[in-house]
Formats: sequence, C-alpha cells, structure tokens
Amino acid sequence: MEEDLKIISDGALSYCRGNLFLEGCALEKIAADRGTPCYVYSTQVLRGRVSSLKEAFAPLSPLICYSVKANSNLTVLRLMKEENLGVDVVSEGELLRARKAGFPGEKIVFAGAGKSPQEIDLAVRWHLFCLTVENAEELDYIEKAGARYKFPVRCALRLNLNVDVDTHHYVKTSRKETKFGLDPEQAIPLIKNRRRWRWVRIAGLHFHLGSQIKEPSGYAQALSLVREFCEKTRFVPEILDIGGGFGISYRPDEHVVPISSFAQTVSGTLKGWCRTRVILEPGRYLVGTAGFLLTRVLYTKKRPGGKTFIIVDAAMNDLVRPAIYGSYHHIIPVRKRMGKNMVADVVGPVCETGDYLAKERTLPAPVRAGDLLIVAGAGAYGFSMASNYNSRRRPCEVLVEGRKSRLIRKRESFQDLWRLEEN
Ligand SMILES: Cc1ncc(COP(=O)(O)O)c(C=O)c1O
Repeated sequence: MEEDLKIISDGALSYCRGNLFLEGCALEKIAADRGTPCYVYSTQVLRGRVSSLKEAFAPLSPLICYSVKANSNLTVLRLMKEENLGVDVVSEGELLRARKAGFPGEKIVFAGAGKSPQEIDLAVRWHLFCLTVENAEELDYIEKAGARYKFPVRCALRLNLNVDVDTHHYVKTSRKETKFGLDPEQAIPLIKNRRRWRWVRIAGLHFHLGSQIKEPSGYAQALSLVREFCEKTRFVPEILDIGGGFGISYRPDEHVVPISSFAQTVSGTLKGWCRTRVILEPGRYLVGTAGFLLTRVLYTKKRPGGKTFIIVDAAMNDLVRPAIYGSYHHIIPVRKRMGKNMVADVVGPVCETGDYLAKERTLPAPVRAGDLLIVAGAGAYGFSMASNYNSRRRPCEVLVEGRKSRLIRKRESFQDLWRLEEN
C-alpha cells in the first residue's frame, strides 16, 4: 500500500497517523478549507518531473516546450517558465494564457490541425519561435501575415508518418486515418519549392505520435522515416520537433519505460545524422502524476445481490478521462482503512451511466458517506478537460508546496454559469 502510494505520486503522498498527506499538507485540511471536489497539485512532483526530463535529454540540449493543453493553469505555466521551459500551444486561448504567464514569443511553438487566419496572424505578430504546418493552405495565411509584419516566419512541416503506437486509439495522432499532419508525399513538393515563399521559412519538421506512449520504439521508427524523408528531399532540418507523448504509470503496477530510455533512443537514432535543434512537447509526463482530484463520498448503495456503488461529489464533468477513454485512475482513501477489501463502482452525480471514476474497484473498507477519497494521476487532462455539464461548477485548484497550500483557481460560482447568457 505505502509502496503503491509512492509509485503513483512520485513519493509525494504518505500517511501520517492514518491521515493522507500530499507533501506536508493534510488532505483533510485542504478539503475542510477549500471544499470538494478540488484539484490538488504537488510542486515537488512538478519540479521533480521537469528535472528528470531535463536530465534525461541533456545530451541533446532540446528546447522543451511544455504542452499547455495538459494543464493550463497560470500558476502551473509560471512554474514551467521559472524552470526555463518554453510552451507548446494549440489555440488563441492557450497562446494568450502563455503570454499572460510571461512566456516570450521565442519560447512558444504553435501546433494545431485547424489554425484560423486570426490565430496565425497573432502567432506571427508575436514572433513565435515556430509554427507547425499541417496543411498546404496554411502557408498562404502565414505568407500574408509574414508580409504584414515584415517577419520571416519559422515553420516546421508536421509529417503524418503512419507510425502506430500502443495507446488508446483516440490519442494516436500519427496514423494515416487521423486528421493530423501531411503525408510525406504531400510534404515533398512543399520542401522542394520552399524558396518560392518570401516570408515563410520552412526550417524543420515536426511529428507527434500520440499520447501515453509507454515505450520508445515508435520514436525510433518515426525518426528513421524522417531521416529517409530528409535524404530523399536533401533537406537539412534546422529544427526537429518530436512532439510529446511520454507516458506515466496510472496503476502502481503499470510498467512505463523510464524517460532516460526514451532519451537514449532519440539520441541514438539521431547520432551521426544532422545537427538539428530538437524540440520536445511533453504534457502528461510533466504534470500527470502531480495532480489529484479530492472528492467526498455522498452515499453508498448496494443492490441486493448485486453491485456496490460509491457515489462521490466529483463527476465526469470534473474528470472525463474514465468516461472518454475508459482510463484507470488509482483511488485512495484520505483516512487510512485497515478493513477487508470491498469492490465497488465509484460514480459521480451526473445523469449518465458513463459518469464513473472507477469500475469494479477494490478499495480498503469501509467506505462511508462523508469519507474523502483522492483520485490520482489527475494532473494532466483533468481540469483542462473539465466542463459545466449538468450545470455543475468547475472545481477549484490548489497548489501544495511543503507545508503550505494555496488556491490557484477559485471554484466557479453559479453566476459564472449564466453570466454570458444574461442580457
Ligand atoms: C502536437 C502535440 N504536442 C504535444 C502534445 C502533448 O502530449 P502529451 O501530453 O502526451 O505529452 C499533444 C497532445 O495531444 C499534441 O497534440
């Protein structure tokens, strides 16, 4: 049990006299002060993850661009900035957030399968480090914006390399049947004719294989294909953006190859080839294990001769991953329980059968109304995918550092729900 806690929280969770602590903060106290449901993040884990990634990839001196979509809270972004990272954004909203958090244009890369002309204009006006091109037609917009601001725009063509990776099919992004990137055959004429543009500077290549990738063979395959592409087109990329995707352990026994092995594979495959500036776009790896959803049990229900349900105050609108991907999130009681194990579905109050946080989960008994639970692995694609479904307010967010905790986003008010509808 203690070992499991360590694995799924990078050592930040521990019981002290039967009470669960994140770093030096009692989760019971956070629930009492801030209410539930509530997202809680650990500074120690966030910084620790950044250090491991930097250390692993140090021989390549990459530009690490944290993927804002994973967790876009301004305090999290500012922490990434303090750590000297850049950011990867995919929308005007993310770009504005990144600027608000203080990232300069030269530390921002902009990817996205459907950038609007306005978004491209803003990206060029703010002199972003690089724009990823996923569609030949984008180049016309980029050229026009470059001309408007008299700024040569550094671009990377996103290749769809048709590389398969072992992950949920919704987050595989480099298969032919997905909307992302250009087929290499479509990219060849763009590379060959790249000098016809005055303001577009095709300086490199990009790929993003998918998310929650647990071993590095896909990266080796993709890099070999990129190398072939470059040899065929005689293109020497100044930058090579290999996306994000590095996985984390959601289950205590889930084996994910250490980040150093991903780094070795990438360095090994690039060795003896061109000296390109590598860009990484990790999201989940940096924030996933740092976040927990703190929730209170409202009711328990046992069907005669059937299932037991634990009905909690967090729901699919707060954490949608189980409902969309059938994802596993480890659940831990805040008050240590020593009884026999019980098996139950942990579900929310939303009116959907798909509203669950765990199915047929073995938990230490008893679990009673009023108890607190935490849902681990909720730092990435947790709050950032939250919604107001069933007119539920999105939860507050709290950052813990040692014995201190602070509110980094308030719980939404009911007024927030209809503010934009009043006239
Ligand atoms: C282009 C791009 N880069 C980076 C990421 C981040 O992926 P991850 O959180 O798996 O590292 C994504 C996620 O979908 C993405 O689409």
